[in-house]
Amino acid sequence: MAPIDPHSFTDSTQPSTSHISLSLYFDFSSSIIHASALISLTNPHSGPFFLDTRSLSIDSVIDPQSKTPIPFSLSENVPIKGSQLSVSLSNHSSFLVTYTTSPSSTALQWLNPLQTFNKAYPFVYTQCHAIHARAVFPCQDTPAMRIRYSARLNIPDQLSAVMAARHVERCRPINNEAEELACGNSSWSAPGRMVEEFVMEQPVPPYLFAFAIGELGNREVGPRTRVFAEAAPELLDAAAREFAGTEDMIKQGEKLFGKYEWERFDLLVLPPSFPVGGMENPRMVFLTPTQIKGDASGAQVVAHELAHSWTGNLITNKTNEHFWLNEGFTTYAERRIVEVVQGEKRAALSIGIGWRGLNDEVERFKDNMEFTKLINNQEGIDPDDVYSQVPYEKGFQFLLRIERQVGRPTFDEFLKKYIATFKFKSIDTETFIDFLKANIPGIETQIDLKLWTEGTGIPPDAHEPDSSVYKMIVTLGNEFKNGRILREDEVADWQGQEWELYLKNLPKSIEASQLVGLDSRYRLSESKDYEVKVAFLQRAIAIGCRDYYNEVEKTLKEIGRMRYLRPLYTALVQGNGKEEDKVFAKRIFSEAREFYHPIAQGVVESILAKHL
Ligand code: BES
Ligand code: ZN
Repeated sequence: MAPIDPHSFTDSTQPSTSHISLSLYFDFSSSIIHASALISLTNPHSGPFFLDTRSLSIDSVIDPQSKTPIPFSLSENVPIKGSQLSVSLSNHSSFLVTYTTSPSSTALQWLNPLQTFNKAYPFVYTQCHAIHARAVFPCQDTPAMRIRYSARLNIPDQLSAVMAARHVERCRPINNEAEELACGNSSWSAPGRMVEEFVMEQPVPPYLFAFAIGELGNREVGPRTRVFAEAAPELLDAAAREFAGTEDMIKQGEKLFGKYEWERFDLLVLPPSFPVGGMENPRMVFLTPTQIKGDASGAQVVAHELAHSWTGNLITNKTNEHFWLNEGFTTYAERRIVEVVQGEKRAALSIGIGWRGLNDEVERFKDNMEFTKLINNQEGIDPDDVYSQVPYEKGFQFLLRIERQVGRPTFDEFLKKYIATFKFKSIDTETFIDFLKANIPGIETQIDLKLWTEGTGIPPDAHEPDSSVYKMIVTLGNEFKNGRILREDEVADWQGQEWELYLKNLPKSIEASQLVGLDSRYRLSESKDYEVKVAFLQRAIAIGCRDYYNEVEKTLKEIGRMRYLRPLYTALVQGNGKEEDKVFAKRIFSEAREFYHPIAQGVVESILAKHL
């Protein structure tokens, strides 16, 4: 037995999955999917074959030719990994698993009508990154695997479905089809049901599997882009305005990194409980509604998820221990796109905020320096628990360091070649480093590559940003301590990013009265931009300024994005002698819990558990 990924039961001595054909019957009344998965292997196999599952009930495993049962066993649930499904194959190259998902599947959020914008119909969506695909279908759930799939989604006919895959058709279910698919029983072709069919023809890691079902509408915003959201005209219009510049960014991405390989680049705006800012699901990026800010700055998250079309989705990290290959490259690519479409100042601010974030993260991990390494050991570690800015910002700094060494034209050429060489492959850091050395001879004598990829903390040759806008705002932040108040004319053209950078660079030891003074002038605690609002509230909590606790409570109850939940809950419960804050945090969580996505629930739980 030879596991290839600390987060998966996948075994290197067994064949790979080449294709999965899914039939999914959605039962909204019980928050359960009745499903079957026809799993095809790269070659026939005899003996045990391992798949990852989490909270799936396996009904049967069947030989698709003879329709006879194949023996299987399901292990106990192991923390982080889930349950191993072991199927005893006898020269099989495919087999059919019938199963049901659990209402508490970590990959799915089922929303009742009242939890949606229009409040009329239920909604369900997936978030599979990093290790949650196994809670929707049994699979070799490691990014080392690349799988093609097709899916038939059986849904109530008032709803529609979208997937990170090509839409084939929407039609009425066919009688007797259920028997053939071994799924959903007689309800499959009941009146009032519709089937939506999709195919994913390009091989993708399982974490990129994604769907959403609800009362959806869309607006066309470019030749290969539609924005989808709940069918509310004001929501669709606002989203279409915010993301109008998408095609420009795709063109820029193609100029920098080569052909866009995924045909469509659609966007889906999810309900406010969506746990991440954006998710790079291929052909259809999933986005938080908090990015619709009315000033096109939401486009930065789109630039990030778009950049994943090359770095992450084309070239994928082999395991989550090399997550920086996905996020560091993507952060670099995102900023290159932003630099062209929004200008150097916007890119410089984003780099500055990232630098501050990296320094704060290294401080946060000072007792656990393993997670300040680009490559880190994740044996026994839940990726959701150690998620941080390190892979993004240290990875970005590493690539910037190389760019500085070789010059931009050479680095651009290198990047294009890197992407063309490894597209549709999953690789590790060593593969990247070997390729770097082969293509930029002597680079290892100029940059300590080992220190950058295996060392802790921030290497000495990383640069604090030196853009003038960054330096000016950091200086203003530092001067706040001496009572230096921002003048209106100084901030007249400030957008969210300027405020965010300013707030994050305020000295640690400021007085509550100073913060209240700042807020009464600039209303940061009520900002529509959550980056600004949360940076402000985090500060307020850290210095024990209770004036804003109503706003904290409101914020924690209206958004489920982990980027905001993590700092706010952490600020409330960390440190000694803040009993009142801890009780407050516990109460809010108990009241908001149902609203959060299961992954976000888990993350908040572990923050509370660590400090209470
Ligand atoms: N793939 C990530 C989101 C993610 C990470 C989901 C880990 C689950 C586990 C996505 O590309 C991302 O980095 N999103 C950022 C956007 C930001 C950097 C512009 C986010 O959600 O904050
Ligand atoms: Zn990303």
